[in-house]
Amino acid sequence: MASCYQGCVFVLAMVVLALSTPCSHALRIVKPKTRTSVFVSPKFVLEPGSVADKYYYDVNFPRGHIAIKSFNGEVIDEEGNPIPLHETYLHHWVVGKYYGRIGFVEPEDARFDEFQRSDFAFVRNSGVCQGDTNGQYFGIGSETRRTDTHVPDPFGIEVGNPAVIPAGYEERWLLNVHAIDTRGAENGLGCTECRCDLYNVSTDSRGQPLRPGYKGGLRCCYDGTQCRVKQGFNGVKRNLYLRYTVKWVDWSDSIIPVKIYIFDVTDKMNRSAGLAIEHECRVEYDVEESCSETSDGCIDSQSSVVTMPTGGYVVYGVAHQHTGGIRSTLYGEDGRVLCSSIPIYGKGKEAGDEAGYIVGMSTCYPQPGSVKINDGETLTLVSNYSSSQTHTGVMDLFYILVADYLPKSSALSLDSTL
Ligand SMILES: *[C@@H]1O[C@H](CO)[C@@H](O)[C@H](O)[C@H]1NC(C)=O
Ligand SMILES: *[C@@H]1O[C@H](CO)[C@@H](O)[C@H](O)[C@H]1NC(C)=O
Ligand SMILES: *[C@@H]1O[C@H](CO)[C@@H](O)[C@H](O)[C@H]1NC(C)=O
Repeated sequence: MASCYQGCVFVLAMVVLALSTPCSHALRIVKPKTRTSVFVSPKFVLEPGSVADKYYYDVNFPRGHIAIKSFNGEVIDEEGNPIPLHETYLHHWVVGKYYGRIGFVEPEDARFDEFQRSDFAFVRNSGVCQGDTNGQYFGIGSETRRTDTHVPDPFGIEVGNPAVIPAGYEERWLLNVHAIDTRGAENGLGCTECRCDLYNVSTDSRGQPLRPGYKGGLRCCYDGTQCRVKQGFNGVKRNLYLRYTVKWVDWSDSIIPVKIYIFDVTDKMNRSAGLAIEHECRVEYDVEESCSETSDGCIDSQSSVVTMPTGGYVVYGVAHQHTGGIRSTLYGEDGRVLCSSIPIYGKGKEAGDEAGYIVGMSTCYPQPGSVKINDGETLTLVSNYSSSQTHTGVMDLFYILVADYLPKSSALSLDSTL
């Protein structure tokens, strides 16, 4: 499945930058060619109030030993038109890596925890949540259109290295798309926050009863559920797709590989477990309505303390928050700010600027070397949300890219010291 959809485009953007310095003996550096591949997911069908939470396996992805330079996506219709968030809310898309046994064909609509271990091995990122939780390589949500995801030179996310793929297996990629059609919704925000009462749901996707007090979150808006729509509202069923754009370069020794870490503000790390540190990332949490006069007004502030197993140099950072989010900050042990990421809210109607929705997150690109995390350093993640109203199923993930070493010389800093 997930074969190349007919609209699948493969673009080679021959971005060869010949950079000349201000020096008299004009020195030229030719960077590796950055290629751009644009792919389209299999189609999912939505009608007013409905939810798609699809897992697609062995999806289109650039092949070979390469370095990923950026990854982004958006929801489009059959004609390729971007669909605004107030029609189809993109709760998240997530891209993960796995080794698939050669010859194994993933059944459609299956969850990967149902596969045999001999057929399928999920390859998680470098940490730090338990099991496969938050193990993706790439993934964001409504902010997808205006969040910078590029990995700065000379760094890259190394994939497809034949030396590390087990014999008899191939490296494959899975895509999970979770989208909610809020056209005609009685309570659009409530639908995007997966409020169980609006979905009239009392059991999760496996038929297990919800735990008492569970008011909203992914357990109430799984594939096929239906959010309440205004009586008499008519909207057509539509075929939709996730169009995703991958920029990459062929692997070479001049590229410095980066590791991917995702921290989760719900992580209740058990530090007494010693070396076998146990993480407990719950991914989602609720914000209660509260406006206190003693604090700074209507702010819900959550934090978690996590240990960074191996340190390195931060080259990129970005947070993921939901509507109501104000800011997310990752601090080092001494209280220094490693990165702070702020939601960008839309102001209009069109795709990429939808009022009331988070349409982008600010990012950090520290000068390489200026933000270093030590081995075993204790980090603190702080997530601030507005608590002027209740929110269910919100998230605060912090994604950083970390390099083990820096370029040997400043030759690639492209400045006039060359
Ligand atoms: C909600 O679900 C129950 C069964 O779980 C059903 O009897 C009831 O009709 C549903 N209500 C609505 C408004 O769909
Ligand atoms: C933390 O880990 C220790 C050692 O494994 C265990 O005894 C303890 O019950 C754990 N605490 C929690 C809250 O899980
Ligand atoms: C988060 O909110 C708390 C409580 O209001 C406040 O003290 C803190 O400065 C805020 N942090 C950030 C990074 O905005």
